[in-house]
Amino acid sequence: MSNPQHLDDLFTFLRFPSVSTDSRHAGDVVACGAWLVAKLSGMGLAAALHPTARHPVVLAKNKHVEGRPTVLIYGHYDVQPADPLELWDSPPFEPRVEGDRVYARGSTDNKGQILAHILAVGETIDEKGDVPVNLIILVEGEEEIGSPNLEVFLKEHRDALKCDVVAVSDTGMLEKGLGTFTYGLRGIACIEIKVTGPSMDLHSGIFGGTVANPATAVAQIVASLHDADGRVAVPGFYDRVQPLADWEIEGWSKLPLSEEATLKLTGAPSLFGEAGFSDHERRWARPTAEVNGIGGGYQGEGSKTIIPKEAFVKLSFRLVPDQDPGEILGLVQKHIEAHSPPGVRVEVKLGHAGKPYLTNPQDGYGNAAREALLEAFGREPALIREGGSIPIIQTFRDVLGVDTLMLGLALPDCQIHAPNENFSLSVFEGGIRMSRLLLDAIARA
Ligand code: BES
Ligand code: MN
Repeated sequence: MSNPQHLDDLFTFLRFPSVSTDSRHAGDVVACGAWLVAKLSGMGLAAALHPTARHPVVLAKNKHVEGRPTVLIYGHYDVQPADPLELWDSPPFEPRVEGDRVYARGSTDNKGQILAHILAVGETIDEKGDVPVNLIILVEGEEEIGSPNLEVFLKEHRDALKCDVVAVSDTGMLEKGLGTFTYGLRGIACIEIKVTGPSMDLHSGIFGGTVANPATAVAQIVASLHDADGRVAVPGFYDRVQPLADWEIEGWSKLPLSEEATLKLTGAPSLFGEAGFSDHERRWARPTAEVNGIGGGYQGEGSKTIIPKEAFVKLSFRLVPDQDPGEILGLVQKHIEAHSPPGVRVEVKLGHAGKPYLTNPQDGYGNAAREALLEAFGREPALIREGGSIPIIQTFRDVLGVDTLMLGLALPDCQIHAPNENFSLSVFEGGIRMSRLLLDAIARA
């Protein structure tokens, strides 16, 4: 790192266990947000912590000047839980450097990435007194729980958040030093199914054959989700799915992507999925149904002959344009009803829902973003969509009426949401460079 203070800031940021889903960490989340406010204020921005129904939002601005474009830089300071702890090679909230990587929960998702922008702004202010645009920095503490309060916050602060474009680094970089511009994200719809039967676990010998088994019912429902070819079997699921554009198929085929690389990254014995699409087409532009968790009955050593009183499954559906999460959840609920066997009660609970996002990378400030990536990394940037979801990106469009430039710094092997999450320090430096160039390019556009 050319500036040791930058590493110091990164380490301090990473030491906060700002796990948003775990109420025991609520105090750590606030402390982390407060540290950011202090950092941003110290840079000369007007910064404050805004309470919400759960975790606070960090908001900072420079002095806005008539006639300059307004850029909103968005990121999140909350992180995923660190578990399973025993699979980490070092404690998740004590950053450890090995080679070019810093290991810590949240290092890539999203602390390292948002900090690159913040430090870029700090450097520019130090050198020039101000950045060349009207700047709004918005860092939330609830992204990893689906941003439940951010839409209301955007609506309540619509005037203060009025901007021309949003910039976000919370997506992937195809390979180290290959600037990556993401112009599409999948949406998401989550649902949890709980199946109950008898009022207690029953002896499977005494009652087996006459009382329906909730775990079997869950398995039947899960098995009904896909057909034999790996397509989602929920009626109507594909009705609104838009085909890929020819330029995307062609462009993606030239990127440094391979099925071998995916096999190596995942450790899976072979790839799976809808016929007729490449690995990346299936991940970036086709919808899915996934089981995220399933359980019920005896999980201990040896066997225990019971009919469990209940069982559950947690499902998520990744969505692509023009699928609508509300509509999809309706279709899924109908499908579950149709595939629920007799003799059990089936309850469903709806979870996260977020729309897919797609924009034209040649439109608006897209050129400025591509210019900044080219200059920062010295290579023609890759134009991609992503399989992951950042639901608030479409909400920015719906509420603030603006598009988002997604300039990701997450390398394929950064292990976000998993043990040993890590962030490349050279990409961190590249990200700081890129952010400075981005604000310059937007100011010129
Ligand atoms: N940064 C990720 C999303 C992401 C990762 C997009 C990689 C593209 C490439 C984000 O923090 C995340 O994990 N989002 C959740 C959303 C959910 C909690 C509503 C996701 O995608 O599962
Ligand atoms: Mn993230």
